[in-house]
Amino acid sequence: MKNSAQKLNRRHFITRSAKAVSMASVMPAISFGKNFNRERRVKTVLVGTGSRGISCWGKELIGPYADFVDMVGLCDSNKKRVDVAKAMIGSESKTYHSSEFEKMVRAQKPDVVIVTTTDCFHADYIVRAMELGCDVVSEKPLATETGQCQRIIDAEKRTGKKVYVGFNVRYMNESIEMKRILSSDELGKIIAIEYHEYLDTLHGASYFRRWHGKTKYSGSLLVHKSSHHFDLISWLLDAEPVEVQAIGKTAFYGSNNVFRGSNCRTCSFTESCDFYWDMTKDRRSMKLYADCEDVDGYYRDGCVWDDKIDSQDTCSVQVNYDNGSQLTYTLNAYLPYEGQYICFSGEKGRLDVRLYSRQPWETKAPVEFRLTKDRNTTKIWHIHPDKGGHGGADERVKDMFFKPNQPDPTGQKAGSRAGVLSSMVGIAARKSMETGKSIEIADLIKF
Ligand SMILES: NC(=O)c1ccc[n+]([C@@H]2O[C@H](COP(=O)([O-])OP(=O)(O)OC[C@H]3O[C@@H](n4cnc5c(N)ncnc54)[C@H](O)[C@@H]3O)[C@@H](O)[C@H]2O)c1
Repeated sequence: MKNSAQKLNRRHFITRSAKAVSMASVMPAISFGKNFNRERRVKTVLVGTGSRGISCWGKELIGPYADFVDMVGLCDSNKKRVDVAKAMIGSESKTYHSSEFEKMVRAQKPDVVIVTTTDCFHADYIVRAMELGCDVVSEKPLATETGQCQRIIDAEKRTGKKVYVGFNVRYMNESIEMKRILSSDELGKIIAIEYHEYLDTLHGASYFRRWHGKTKYSGSLLVHKSSHHFDLISWLLDAEPVEVQAIGKTAFYGSNNVFRGSNCRTCSFTESCDFYWDMTKDRRSMKLYADCEDVDGYYRDGCVWDDKIDSQDTCSVQVNYDNGSQLTYTLNAYLPYEGQYICFSGEKGRLDVRLYSRQPWETKAPVEFRLTKDRNTTKIWHIHPDKGGHGGADERVKDMFFKPNQPDPTGQKAGSRAGVLSSMVGIAARKSMETGKSIEIADLIKF
């Protein structure tokens, strides 16, 4: 893989990173709606009232952020689910079918549209919301295809509206600690990064039971899941990805089994399947999904052996960055334990960050940091997550978007460029797997 980062001269890089830093510091703490009046609350509507919409951007928004946010509409393609969601959120908002999205925006006149639909539909709502005069907060991944990314970039320019991405991983305690170390000069220039994502047979399998296992909905796990990780690396390094090469396959789930069913509740292999999940024991899932499945035919307890599953569960990706750093990234989704191993090799030393989560043998494991600067000494310390969704990160990301005058010294508030680039690494990785070639992001997308 030729290092196209080397083709970028240093002047270009300095100009770009200086721009990124200055953008981060001048970006207003809250910028929703061109004529946003701080005397009143931000009017929002939510499109995609599934699990994430109901929790992070529904119940946990309208309660604690009631002084700042007024939720005025809920919208989903499943008319039953949007009504269940309204009750679960405890909202007074009017509900709309997705075919009434425009009607909702025109009637409710929100400042901000929050997008939490299935990934492949984000772009449609993001673009339309901006065309209708709204700013947008979107869940990750911003988009799943190159064309969608380009449409978002173009619409943002055309409309003068803003898109923000809910990259909550940037707000986790361990991410903040990594940023602190990398921003100091302790490691010097970062030459190489290793990032290993370990998904176990509970969490990993859960993706393959749902729409996430089909590329047409999620863009594959390399977009749906890894966009978090690709974004984290760009944010930590203050660098942008330029070239991607990858190999990957669906080696465990999907067609890799002798039997399969439609979904667990109707399956004849419940005794013999290691992945049988009795959803009837989960009251929330029964209400939110099973009771609504006659509308759209979506089974929340889908079969992990569905032979239409095409998202890779085994991935190796290499990325070159415009500052000359190189990333080696792996994702495996069928492991006996869950966690991550992230290492930064710099000119002056190495940082190893090790996370285990949810293992029965280490349920409350903190994140281990190890900094090694010479052959004789190594320093180890631990970081604990805070209480709340994603170790407190879900609350912090909402603070950033919805509380006025939030400081942002490290540029955590992610805009469309970060969203597009993180999606594009996964999309380029897919393309590299298909073609066997190394893919330059600049050949796919124009900012
Ligand atoms: N940042 C995080 O930590 C995090 C965590 C979970 C999910 N997410 C993201 O949140 C989003 C939603 O995930 P989820 O777990 O809630 O999934 P989900 O399946 O529970 O919810 C998706 C909802 O979108 C609706 N929908 C599908 N197509 C639609 C369309 N065309 N128009 C309107 N509504 C449509 C579905 O009916 C469903 O209610 C995804 O983009 C996911 O990547 C982010």
